[in-house]
Amino acid sequence: MATTTTSNETDPLFYKDADSFFQENANVGLTYDDVTLATRYSEILPRQTRVEMRLSDKLSLNIPLISADMDTVTESAMATAMARNGGLGIIHYNMPEKRQLQEVTKVKNDVHGLIQEPISVRPESTIADVLDMVEARGFKFHTFPVVDEGNHLVGLLRGRIVKKRYHGVRVRDAMTPLEEVFTIQEEAIADDPIGAADRFFTEHMGIHKLIVLDREGRLKGLFIMSDIERIREEESAEFKPARDANFRLVCGAAISATRTPAGNLDRDRILKHAHNLYEEGVDLLAVSTAHGHSAGVGDVIRLLRGEFPDLTLVAGNVTSAEGVEYLSRCGADAVKVGQGPGSICTTRIVAGVGIPQLTALYVCSRAARKTGTRIIADGGIVKSGDIVKSLTLSNAVMCGSLFAGCREAPGSLMEINGKLYKQYRGMGSLTAMEAGSAARYGHEKKARKGDKIAAEGIEALKEVSGSLDDTLRQLIGGLQSGMGYLGARDLDELSERARYIRVSPAGQRESAPHDVVEVKTSKED
Ligand code: XMP
Repeated sequence: MATTTTSNETDPLFYKDADSFFQENANVGLTYDDVTLATRYSEILPRQTRVEMRLSDKLSLNIPLISADMDTVTESAMATAMARNGGLGIIHYNMPEKRQLQEVTKVKNDVHGLIQEPISVRPESTIADVLDMVEARGFKFHTFPVVDEGNHLVGLLRGRIVKKRYHGVRVRDAMTPLEEVFTIQEEAIADDPIGAADRFFTEHMGIHKLIVLDREGRLKGLFIMSDIERIREEESAEFKPARDANFRLVCGAAISATRTPAGNLDRDRILKHAHNLYEEGVDLLAVSTAHGHSAGVGDVIRLLRGEFPDLTLVAGNVTSAEGVEYLSRCGADAVKVGQGPGSICTTRIVAGVGIPQLTALYVCSRAARKTGTRIIADGGIVKSGDIVKSLTLSNAVMCGSLFAGCREAPGSLMEINGKLYKQYRGMGSLTAMEAGSAARYGHEKKARKGDKIAAEGIEALKEVSGSLDDTLRQLIGGLQSGMGYLGARDLDELSERARYIRVSPAGQRESAPHDVVEVKTSKED
């Protein structure tokens, strides 16, 4: 750890460590803007800081950010982009179980070097058939291995021939014949597939595809040079993608505490779906509800823990030390903290409950220290400085609103007065509960129009904010700056070195740009 130059007796009178600060402020609930962090002697530059974290013994992330399991935030596109940037997306459950499984499959099958089941075409098809397939299935590529009915490779249909002008031509007459196609035996790549493909592309200038065959000449896989290059680039990237032991991107899924018509937990259905997700390679299951310190959530976590001893389980949400201890005893590796801080939440207004987020995080973090549970700070993050403050008391941060405007979030764009927006809604809003999330708010079934249940979230819009890559770059850049100011090499040091002070209303105004006319300075603008 970095050492301070000298100690001074004045600083500790004003800037307090977490225990002194929060205990002295025990009579008031505090949140991000109520507090600021004191800087400390530093030998660390922002780019030297390390931000990786562990969510459990099995699951590590390279950045401490998770996208929320909300139906306007995380489906496969968001989860893929989060994992590629080193974080994690948790796919929401407001969709049929079969579709949630497909969404997880898409993330887990995102390019990891070898495409194991490449899309192929048959010699007797026409180019028009191939074009129809490309359009119907939305493929972005146009080159296909050609196989017979026994899946034996007979040629390669190159993208430059898959054009409307050749529509009537049979694939067999348009393809590059087998003897001119570059192939490799699967035994030859067994030890180091990426290395073997990388060498091949270096040695065969201008060749961008390599087909893998078994001894009988059956199609077993396909390497694309650009995929291999991306993997090689990743090896030197600052924030590497978060991958599992099989080099697949990590992905989480939210599990609903489904009930039978009689109101009991539907154990068979929950387990069947969880098994399917597990088989697909899901890295984490989250039981996300508004009230995690409850019998229902505890039962589901116990059920899942009994069945999957090694799978990372997240449960929530809570805001009390008792809640953390309870969920940890039930078997959760990580607990989500946050009741009402979210940008679209109305729980505090509707139900009169919930705790300002920074105080909640302090209380929960002290219990988590004893139980060895990880804390995920969920909701209320609006700027990178909030992430820095949050991570002084938690291990990872979950965001909805910050990511909902990104192009990777589900939903279509709408234009209002020349500006582009995306829908962002609370999972406790009426329309989201109608779509299936009612159980999350303690209502027994799917909400229907006219049901007397109180919404605990609103429907909103987010201005479109470009790609997730850019958003994350800004957020992680801010986190690293904060760590540099505190002289913290990693996230453990960030919590150890944090010292807090409350901010007056005038101090809050002073913290944001003031008394100037703001102009945009980026090149695009
Ligand atoms: P942000 O502030 O990132 O918060 O938009 C996202 C988190 O808010 C929670 N959430 C809700 N809370 N009513 C609530 O009280 C809702 O309808 C609702 N929907 C989401 C959730 O924890 C999410 O991660």
